[in-house]
Amino acid sequence: MLKNQNNKNKVYLKAIVYKDLKALYKIYCEPEINKWFGGKISFEQYKKIFRKFKKKMKNGESVHLAVVLENKEQPIGEVNLYSINREYKSAEFLIIISKKFWRQGYGLEASHKIIEHAFKKMKLRRLTLEINSKNIASIKLCKKLGFTIEGIKKEAIKFEGKWCDEVILGILNK
Ligand SMILES: CC(C)(COP(=O)(O)OP(=O)(O)OC[C@H]1O[C@@H](n2cnc3c(N)ncnc32)[C@H](O)[C@@H]1OP(=O)(O)O)[C@@H](O)C(=O)NCCC(=O)NCCS
Repeated sequence: MLKNQNNKNKVYLKAIVYKDLKALYKIYCEPEINKWFGGKISFEQYKKIFRKFKKKMKNGESVHLAVVLENKEQPIGEVNLYSINREYKSAEFLIIISKKFWRQGYGLEASHKIIEHAFKKMKLRRLTLEINSKNIASIKLCKKLGFTIEGIKKEAIKFEGKWCDEVILGILNK
Protein backbone atom coordinates (compact mmCIF):
# COMPACT_ATOMS: atom_id res chain seq x y z
CA MET A 1 0.00 0.00 0.00
CA LEU A 2 1.32 3.43 -0.97
CA LYS A 3 1.83 5.52 2.18
CA ASN A 4 2.06 9.20 3.16
CA GLN A 5 0.65 10.82 0.07
CA ASN A 6 0.93 14.58 0.22
CA ASN A 7 -0.65 17.09 -2.12
CA LYS A 8 2.04 19.74 -2.08
CA ASN A 9 2.54 19.73 -5.85
CA LYS A 10 6.11 20.97 -5.80
CA VAL A 11 7.19 18.83 -8.74
CA TYR A 12 5.63 17.46 -11.89
CA LEU A 13 6.65 14.61 -14.19
CA LYS A 14 7.08 15.16 -17.91
CA ALA A 15 8.13 13.25 -20.98
CA ILE A 16 11.87 13.54 -21.60
CA VAL A 17 12.79 15.42 -24.75
CA TYR A 18 16.19 15.52 -26.39
CA LYS A 19 17.05 18.96 -24.93
CA ASP A 20 16.60 17.56 -21.36
CA LEU A 21 19.37 15.02 -21.88
CA LYS A 22 22.31 17.32 -21.04
CA ALA A 23 20.75 18.24 -17.67
CA LEU A 24 19.82 14.63 -16.90
CA TYR A 25 23.27 13.40 -17.87
CA LYS A 26 24.87 16.03 -15.59
CA ILE A 27 22.75 14.76 -12.70
CA TYR A 28 23.62 11.14 -13.53
CA CYS A 29 27.33 12.08 -13.40
CA GLU A 30 27.14 13.52 -9.88
CA PRO A 31 29.52 11.31 -7.86
CA GLU A 32 26.95 10.79 -5.07
CA ILE A 33 24.56 9.42 -7.68
CA ASN A 34 26.55 7.44 -10.19
CA LYS A 35 28.42 5.55 -7.45
CA TRP A 36 25.19 3.55 -7.02
CA PHE A 37 25.00 2.79 -10.74
CA GLY A 38 28.47 1.46 -11.42
CA GLY A 39 30.32 4.71 -12.14
CA LYS A 40 30.59 7.26 -14.94
CA ILE A 41 29.52 6.76 -18.53
CA SER A 42 30.02 9.03 -21.55
CA PHE A 43 27.27 11.30 -22.88
CA GLU A 44 27.19 9.10 -26.00
CA GLN A 45 26.49 6.03 -23.84
CA TYR A 46 23.85 7.96 -21.90
CA LYS A 47 22.10 8.98 -25.12
CA LYS A 48 22.18 5.36 -26.28
CA ILE A 49 20.51 4.24 -23.02
CA PHE A 50 17.90 7.02 -23.45
CA ARG A 51 17.15 5.87 -27.00
CA LYS A 52 16.67 2.31 -25.71
CA PHE A 53 14.23 3.53 -23.04
CA LYS A 54 12.40 5.61 -25.64
CA LYS A 55 11.93 2.52 -27.79
CA LYS A 56 10.81 0.53 -24.74
CA MET A 57 8.37 3.30 -23.83
CA LYS A 58 6.84 3.04 -27.29
CA ASN A 59 6.46 -0.73 -26.78
CA GLY A 60 4.96 -0.22 -23.31
CA GLU A 61 7.95 -1.84 -21.60
CA SER A 62 9.03 1.25 -19.65
CA VAL A 63 7.90 4.67 -18.42
CA HIS A 64 10.83 7.08 -18.20
CA LEU A 65 9.99 10.64 -17.10
CA ALA A 66 11.79 13.77 -15.96
CA VAL A 67 11.15 15.29 -12.51
CA VAL A 68 10.70 19.06 -12.82
CA LEU A 69 10.04 21.79 -10.25
CA GLU A 70 6.69 23.57 -10.54
CA ASN A 71 7.01 26.66 -12.76
CA LYS A 72 10.35 25.46 -14.14
CA GLU A 73 11.39 23.42 -17.15
CA GLN A 74 14.82 22.04 -16.34
CA PRO A 75 14.76 18.50 -14.89
CA ILE A 76 16.03 17.98 -11.32
CA GLY A 77 15.87 14.21 -11.69
CA GLU A 78 14.18 11.26 -13.32
CA VAL A 79 11.83 8.42 -12.48
CA ASN A 80 11.58 5.14 -14.27
CA LEU A 81 9.33 2.11 -14.36
CA TYR A 82 11.16 -0.55 -16.34
CA SER A 83 11.02 -4.28 -17.06
CA ILE A 84 7.25 -3.84 -17.16
CA ASN A 85 5.63 -7.28 -17.28
CA ARG A 86 2.03 -7.00 -18.51
CA GLU A 87 1.23 -10.64 -17.71
CA TYR A 88 2.31 -10.42 -14.08
CA LYS A 89 1.41 -6.70 -13.85
CA SER A 90 4.79 -5.87 -12.35
CA ALA A 91 7.64 -3.44 -12.94
CA GLU A 92 10.90 -2.23 -11.45
CA PHE A 93 11.10 1.27 -10.01
CA LEU A 94 13.94 3.79 -10.04
CA ILE A 95 14.30 7.40 -8.95
CA ILE A 96 17.18 9.87 -9.14
CA ILE A 97 17.15 13.43 -7.73
CA SER A 98 20.08 15.83 -8.15
CA LYS A 99 22.06 16.25 -4.92
CA LYS A 100 21.35 20.02 -4.85
CA PHE A 101 17.68 19.21 -4.31
CA TRP A 102 17.96 16.41 -1.75
CA ARG A 103 15.96 16.40 1.50
CA GLN A 104 13.25 18.78 0.30
CA GLY A 105 10.53 16.22 -0.27
CA TYR A 106 10.93 16.12 -4.08
CA GLY A 107 11.98 12.45 -4.20
CA LEU A 108 8.98 11.42 -2.14
CA GLU A 109 6.53 13.49 -4.19
CA ALA A 110 7.88 12.36 -7.57
CA SER A 111 7.81 8.73 -6.38
CA HIS A 112 4.20 9.06 -5.25
CA LYS A 113 3.27 10.41 -8.65
CA ILE A 114 4.90 7.62 -10.68
CA ILE A 115 3.66 4.91 -8.30
CA GLU A 116 0.13 6.27 -8.47
CA HIS A 117 0.43 6.21 -12.27
CA ALA A 118 1.67 2.61 -12.12
CA PHE A 119 -1.14 1.41 -9.87
CA LYS A 120 -4.10 3.54 -10.95
CA LYS A 121 -3.52 4.16 -14.67
CA MET A 122 -1.40 1.18 -15.69
CA LYS A 123 -3.16 -1.18 -13.25
CA LEU A 124 0.12 -2.79 -12.20
CA ARG A 125 -0.01 -4.92 -9.04
CA ARG A 126 3.57 -4.93 -7.94
CA LEU A 127 6.71 -2.76 -8.02
CA THR A 128 10.15 -3.87 -6.93
CA LEU A 129 13.72 -2.69 -6.75
CA GLU A 130 17.05 -4.04 -5.63
CA ILE A 131 19.24 -1.58 -3.75
CA ASN A 132 22.78 -1.67 -2.41
CA SER A 133 22.39 -2.13 1.37
CA LYS A 134 24.68 0.90 1.87
CA ASN A 135 22.22 3.15 -0.01
CA ILE A 136 20.38 4.21 3.15
CA ALA A 137 18.64 7.26 1.62
CA SER A 138 16.97 5.14 -1.06
CA ILE A 139 16.01 2.36 1.35
CA LYS A 140 14.46 4.89 3.76
CA LEU A 141 12.65 6.67 0.93
CA CYS A 142 11.19 3.36 -0.27
CA LYS A 143 10.12 2.36 3.23
CA LYS A 144 8.42 5.73 3.61
CA LEU A 145 6.56 5.03 0.37
CA GLY A 146 5.30 1.71 1.76
CA PHE A 147 7.82 -0.70 0.23
CA THR A 148 8.79 -3.59 2.47
CA ILE A 149 11.97 -5.63 2.53
CA GLU A 150 11.30 -8.94 0.79
CA GLY A 151 14.78 -10.37 0.97
CA ILE A 152 18.51 -9.84 1.11
CA LYS A 153 20.90 -11.00 -1.58
CA LYS A 154 24.01 -11.70 0.43
CA GLU A 155 27.24 -10.19 -0.96
CA ALA A 156 25.62 -9.85 -4.37
CA ILE A 157 27.58 -6.78 -5.50
CA LYS A 158 31.01 -5.26 -5.17
CA PHE A 159 30.93 -1.65 -3.97
CA GLU A 160 33.97 0.53 -3.26
CA GLY A 161 36.14 -2.60 -3.29
CA LYS A 162 34.01 -4.60 -0.84
CA TRP A 163 31.29 -7.24 -1.23
CA CYS A 164 27.91 -5.80 -0.31
CA ASP A 165 24.42 -7.13 0.26
CA GLU A 166 21.57 -6.10 -1.98
CA VAL A 167 18.16 -5.40 -0.47
CA ILE A 168 15.06 -6.50 -2.39
CA LEU A 169 12.15 -4.13 -1.77
CA GLY A 170 8.60 -4.50 -3.03
CA ILE A 171 5.20 -2.83 -2.85
CA LEU A 172 1.82 -4.26 -3.80
CA ASN A 173 -1.18 -2.31 -5.00
CA LYS A 174 -3.42 -3.30 -2.08
C1 LIG B 1 16.93 8.50 -2.78
C2 LIG B 1 16.71 9.92 -3.31
C3 LIG B 1 15.89 9.86 -4.59
C4 LIG B 1 15.92 10.72 -2.25
O1 LIG B 1 15.56 11.97 -2.81
P1 LIG B 1 15.15 13.22 -1.90
O2 LIG B 1 14.47 14.22 -2.77
O3 LIG B 1 16.30 13.69 -1.11
O4 LIG B 1 14.08 12.55 -0.93
P2 LIG B 1 13.04 13.30 0.03
O5 LIG B 1 13.55 14.64 0.44
O6 LIG B 1 11.70 13.27 -0.60
O7 LIG B 1 13.06 12.36 1.30
C5 LIG B 1 12.06 11.38 1.55
C6 LIG B 1 12.52 10.44 2.63
O8 LIG B 1 13.62 9.66 2.16
C7 LIG B 1 14.53 9.40 3.25
N1 LIG B 1 15.84 10.03 2.96
C8 LIG B 1 16.15 10.80 1.90
N2 LIG B 1 17.46 11.14 1.95
C9 LIG B 1 17.98 10.57 3.05
C10 LIG B 1 19.28 10.55 3.63
N3 LIG B 1 20.32 11.19 3.07
N4 LIG B 1 19.46 9.84 4.76
C11 LIG B 1 18.44 9.18 5.34
N5 LIG B 1 17.16 9.18 4.84
C12 LIG B 1 16.94 9.86 3.71
C13 LIG B 1 13.88 10.01 4.49
O9 LIG B 1 13.06 9.03 5.09
C14 LIG B 1 13.05 11.12 3.88
O10 LIG B 1 11.98 11.52 4.69
P3 LIG B 1 12.24 12.67 5.82
O11 LIG B 1 12.89 13.81 5.11
O12 LIG B 1 10.87 12.97 6.30
O13 LIG B 1 13.13 12.06 6.83
C15 LIG B 1 18.07 10.65 -3.54
O14 LIG B 1 18.84 10.54 -2.39
C16 LIG B 1 18.85 10.10 -4.72
O15 LIG B 1 18.63 10.49 -5.86
N6 LIG B 1 19.80 9.17 -4.47
C17 LIG B 1 20.65 8.63 -5.51
C18 LIG B 1 19.86 7.82 -6.52
C19 LIG B 1 19.63 6.43 -6.05
O16 LIG B 1 20.43 5.85 -5.33
N7 LIG B 1 18.54 5.82 -6.50
C20 LIG B 1 18.42 4.43 -6.13
C21 LIG B 1 17.31 3.72 -6.61
S1 LIG B 1 15.73 4.27 -6.03
